[in-house]
Amino acid sequence: MGFVPTMGYLHEGHAELIRRARRETAGPVVVSVFVNPLQFGAGEDLSRYPRDLERDLNVAGEAGADMLFHPSPQTMYPLGFSTQVSVSGVSEPLDGAARPGHFTGVTTVVLKLLNMVAARRAYFGEKDWQQLAVVRRMVQDLNVPVEVVGVPTVREASGLALSSRNSYLTDEQRARAAVLSRALGAVQAAYASGERRSDALRQVGLNVLASEPEAVPDYLSVVNPDLQEPELLTPHPDNRVLVAARMFGVRLIDNMPLPGS
Ligand code: PAJ
Repeated sequence: MGFVPTMGYLHEGHAELIRRARRETAGPVVVSVFVNPLQFGAGEDLSRYPRDLERDLNVAGEAGADMLFHPSPQTMYPLGFSTQVSVSGVSEPLDGAARPGHFTGVTTVVLKLLNMVAARRAYFGEKDWQQLAVVRRMVQDLNVPVEVVGVPTVREASGLALSSRNSYLTDEQRARAAVLSRALGAVQAAYASGERRSDALRQVGLNVLASEPEAVPDYLSVVNPDLQEPELLTPHPDNRVLVAARMFGVRLIDNMPLPGS
């Protein structure tokens, strides 16, 4: 079996994960839709997170899924539920620092879902690069019998990474949110032309973000595969530039590779 865990409101990014699972899986492809309350902090968007199960069924089916698993919060967290799965290290900087408890919520639900579905392979998007690193760490550390497959980010023509949260934005706001991917692209270009100092690379990205007054950066960071920002990057295929910013009241994240040469 192949498994694609999601929080629903499926878009082309999710569909790409499902199509990839379909191509690589002889048996059934399972998609889960569960808006996991554990991974939302107080004051975050749990209650207004977009939901449309009918549409999700269609998108998942058209992309090649055989089953959609839509557990209730009571099924996932019955009275008396008392266990947390927490990964240290890679879960601590960046979104881990900005959203306390978020990754514990993610790893707790992902381990439960992996155990419930018991698929051979599970597909995660590079869009959530830190989440992918945290899940890989958990699977390795806890001998979870699943192969984690990372899938490149699907973007709009403007460069904006697809996200269920983009539905909070108007067309004009979405167009302006493409500044995030332009900032990441500028950092990629500086890296490609030989810049390896993290503060210089970071500044290149922040300068682009500053051109859009509506973008309030949370972090912009160039990191090695351990999600640490060294003073000088040593070439590695999993070096990455990551950004989080608030725009129009929505927290958006994105990242791009800094492939070594
Ligand atoms: P959700 O945000 O619904 O994303 C589900 C999966 O789709 C994640 O692996 C995410 O990285 C991937 N994805 C989202 N947008 C993408 C894009 N533009 N291109 C490629 N992949 C994309 O991530 C979660 O849900 C949750 O944290 C979850 C893992 C389901 C645990 O609750």
